[in-house]
Amino acid sequence: RRVEWSPVAVEKQGFSHFMAKEIFEQPQAIRATTSGRLPRAGEDDLGRGEPSFPELAELDVPALAARAKVTMLACGTSWHAALAGKYLFEQLARVPVEVDLASEFRYRQPIVRPGDLAVAISQSGETADTRAALMEARRLGATGLAICNVVDSSIAREADRVLYTHAGPEISVASTKAFTTQLAMLTLLAVHLGRRTGALTLERAAGLLDGLRELPVALDAVLGQAAAIEIIARRWRSARDWLYLGRGLAFPVALEGALKLKEISYVHAEGYACGEIKHGPIALVDERVPVVVLALEGPGYHKTLASLEEVRARGGKIIALASAGDRRIGDLADDVILVPQVDPYLQPILASVPLQLLAYHLARLEGRDVDQPRNLAKSVTVE
Ligand code: AGP
Repeated sequence: RRVEWSPVAVEKQGFSHFMAKEIFEQPQAIRATTSGRLPRAGEDDLGRGEPSFPELAELDVPALAARAKVTMLACGTSWHAALAGKYLFEQLARVPVEVDLASEFRYRQPIVRPGDLAVAISQSGETADTRAALMEARRLGATGLAICNVVDSSIAREADRVLYTHAGPEISVASTKAFTTQLAMLTLLAVHLGRRTGALTLERAAGLLDGLRELPVALDAVLGQAAAIEIIARRWRSARDWLYLGRGLAFPVALEGALKLKEISYVHAEGYACGEIKHGPIALVDERVPVVVLALEGPGYHKTLASLEEVRARGGKIIALASAGDRRIGDLADDVILVPQVDPYLQPILASVPLQLLAYHLARLEGRDVDQPRNLAKSVTVE
């Protein structure tokens, strides 16, 4: 599907910044990215769990899972999507995945063989390092698959196959809807691969696809909390160091939350896997450091609460992102942002949004140039 972008479509449409507009466009962007691939409502039993990926018809997926691997290549926010992609592909499809920073890939003599699949992820499709990494992976014999938002971009043209996210034009330097649509595409792809490797039952696949179909409504509910998140931003606006903690699929979301804050507010922030804080970062914690803990219900929930307690015991101030209906979290955190309950594999998409809003409001309160932060360009076309 080809998307035409008109100048009118890229106006701010009443929002003070493109970033805010793009954050609020996410329900629609997710719908646009997923709807063409989801089975139609009322699909017969066999079709219910099968997302449509005609582009990959010739890919030998069982061989990929048994004898080869996927290498994901990306930079910045797209690299965070790739990290989430690893969890999704490995857990849902049992396909081995390596994730590389595109800027490092060529310089470490990577082991890539014919039969491997190189997945380059890029919003702009113009990031020079990602393009060069994809070229190198293809030179070594891999099939190149691009996940891009911009049609006919350099990376899309470099690849053997392209999957387009349909986020629409992203003007703000800080990536928001491009990230969540990348996550949605990777989730669809993981379900597709999982069906073809046999790792995912039809029932489970259908449940995940139903969840994706319903996600825009859950996203609307999160966006409805923008005013409450602004109040939290006002409360913590004087903090100069922030930590973001997440476990499993919430780890890349924590990294992305910290990057968002850094790039638009120039406030120092770090993302860590929960289990890592005791290996160093906990030394940073005191009552001046807000710690954003992604504590959504799911497999890692209790361990995440243990990390939260460790931080609290050292005087850290907790802003928890939790699932609606969580009755414990209010007693453990200084501030709580609740998001609707969804399948744990779909949580990263939902959990990203409050962190984008938090960064946006903090940057605005600092008086920063939100859409054009200093020293940054929307696409980095030099290596
Ligand atoms: C995101 O907020 C950043 N501006 C940046 O990290 C970006 O994601 C990175 O430069 C990669 O861009 P791409 O997705 O267009 O390749």
